[in-house]
Amino acid sequence: MAENDGTQRSNPAAGALRASGFHHVPVMCDEVLEVLGSGPPGIVLDATVGGGGHAAAILAANPDMSLLGLDRDDAALTAAGERLARFGDRVVLHRSAFGDLAGAMEAVGVERISGFLFDLGVSSPQLDCAERGFSYRQAGPLDMRMDRRQRLTAAEVVNGYEEAELARILHRHADERYARRIARTLVAARPVVDTALLAELVREAIPAPARRRGGHPAKRTFQAIRIEVNGELDQLADALDEAVRRLVPGGRGAVLSYHSGEDRIVKERFDRAATGGCVCPPRLPCVCGAKPKVILPRRAGRTPGVDEAADNPRAASARLRSLERISGTVGS
Ligand SMILES: C[S@@+](CC[C@H](N)C(=O)[O-])C[C@H]1O[C@@H](n2cnc3c(N)ncnc32)[C@H](O)[C@@H]1O
Repeated sequence: MAENDGTQRSNPAAGALRASGFHHVPVMCDEVLEVLGSGPPGIVLDATVGGGGHAAAILAANPDMSLLGLDRDDAALTAAGERLARFGDRVVLHRSAFGDLAGAMEAVGVERISGFLFDLGVSSPQLDCAERGFSYRQAGPLDMRMDRRQRLTAAEVVNGYEEAELARILHRHADERYARRIARTLVAARPVVDTALLAELVREAIPAPARRRGGHPAKRTFQAIRIEVNGELDQLADALDEAVRRLVPGGRGAVLSYHSGEDRIVKERFDRAATGGCVCPPRLPCVCGAKPKVILPRRAGRTPGVDEAADNPRAASARLRSLERISGTVGS
């Protein structure tokens, strides 16, 4: 599939391409369809198209919708191109981080959207491929880049950051209780050469009784380093504001987040859009002139049903938040 300027127009002939083997089960797919399917026809932005699982479901269920899919991982875009080929020119895929949403939309000539989806974090194939270095379960290089053109890798974070900075990101990005102990252990052991050694050092740094609680002892450290390498939290707030700004009246937006750091940002930006940035004391009439842009149909968001959480471990920590652009407001 041609990919020079980063933009791919999905084309039926691409269906003949060898299957990529990209296997990722889309999380809370029925709930996402419920949100986006009741919105107006038009272009849906899938800001994290991955292997195109949600995207295929959205397109199949809504013949009056087309889709702009972004991802910064070239392997994901190739997989999405194959999976979505049957939808022909209803699909445009573009390689970009959602941090540059305005630039990406300008590049493909899209001004307004009728809906958006952000399905945050990593995909199963990124985690499963040892070579990508995301997994604490398999030995691989300390990489963790979603976009393999970027310079910062996990090796530079683990072997180059000062001890205090390492502890700070472990705490900030993953609420790691033993952040300082882990940072001290990693710095003393440098160079840390691969993911297997990193996982083992983290395990050793955590007190024995705590190792037996809350899943694999290295899980939070790997999450924190991945978030740091990819600047995952830095881009989110502005990208959500931009997506809301681009929504047509009545347009819907949905975000799936998988840990508290992400969800805090989503909640804060959605609440701000719902109040229009009102600064008046709660429970008093608004006199500051703020204009709400959206309504939040379910203030607390939604979590997966018990069956989905049991069947798909990735879904267990998911929270879906959604909003609807108020009629008569546009472009702010
Ligand atoms: C959970 S997966 C999406 C899976 C997709 N919904 C599906 O059903 O196949 C998240 C995807 O978002 C991409 N991603 C993460 N952060 C991104 C960002 N800031 N900009 C663009 N893509 C990003 C990752 O490369 C990954 O492919």
